[in-house]
Amino acid sequence: MSPLIQIEQIFPSLTWRIRHEAMYPELPFDHVKLPDDFDGIHFGLYADHKLTGVVSLFQKGDVYQFRKLAVLPEAQKSGYGSQLMEYILDFCKIQKATRLWCNARVNAKEFYYKFGFHETEKIFYKDGYDFVVMEKEISD
Ligand SMILES: CC(C)(COP(=O)(O)OP(=O)(O)OC[C@H]1O[C@@H](n2cnc3c(N)ncnc32)[C@H](O)[C@@H]1OP(=O)(O)O)[C@@H](O)C(=O)NCCC(=O)NCCS
Repeated sequence: MSPLIQIEQIFPSLTWRIRHEAMYPELPFDHVKLPDDFDGIHFGLYADHKLTGVVSLFQKGDVYQFRKLAVLPEAQKSGYGSQLMEYILDFCKIQKATRLWCNARVNAKEFYYKFGFHETEKIFYKDGYDFVVMEKEISD
């Protein structure tokens, strides 16, 4: 039977374990804590009541950035990352955001293309990964 999926807003601290396991297991745990985590809006995807994926949104006026989209390694490629993306895109529309952007790992670019994000010319290297700023205009 396919698992029961629920997405809901969660406390910032609940994102840290999944960020660490999915994104930076080789770095110290504290590395995944963001200085502005307590100013963000965080969402968790529960699969059969187990927290399995997370994403965090940060607002500046009508522009939103999402950060640290992460799905537990054993649960990747099951559509959960896509469900979280759809959820925050809907959320941004409801909030009347004009743009959503992220620092995308270059090796995850194709994932974001699927949701209509396009690359900008801003690229950088951090913590062992190449990043590119990707963005999407939001309309009704
Ligand atoms: C990237 C991530 C969030 C995607 O979540 P997921 O649940 O594994 O993705 P989904 O199962 O929803 O994948 C949807 C589609 O994107 C593709 N996809 C998933 N991860 C991808 C990647 N890293 N690069 C390219 N395509 C990817 C899948 O193959 C699938 O394609 P399909 O629909 O044609 O079969 C997840 O793999 C993850 O946590 N990775 C490690 C952390 C990370 O890289 N985060 C993003 C930082 S920018």
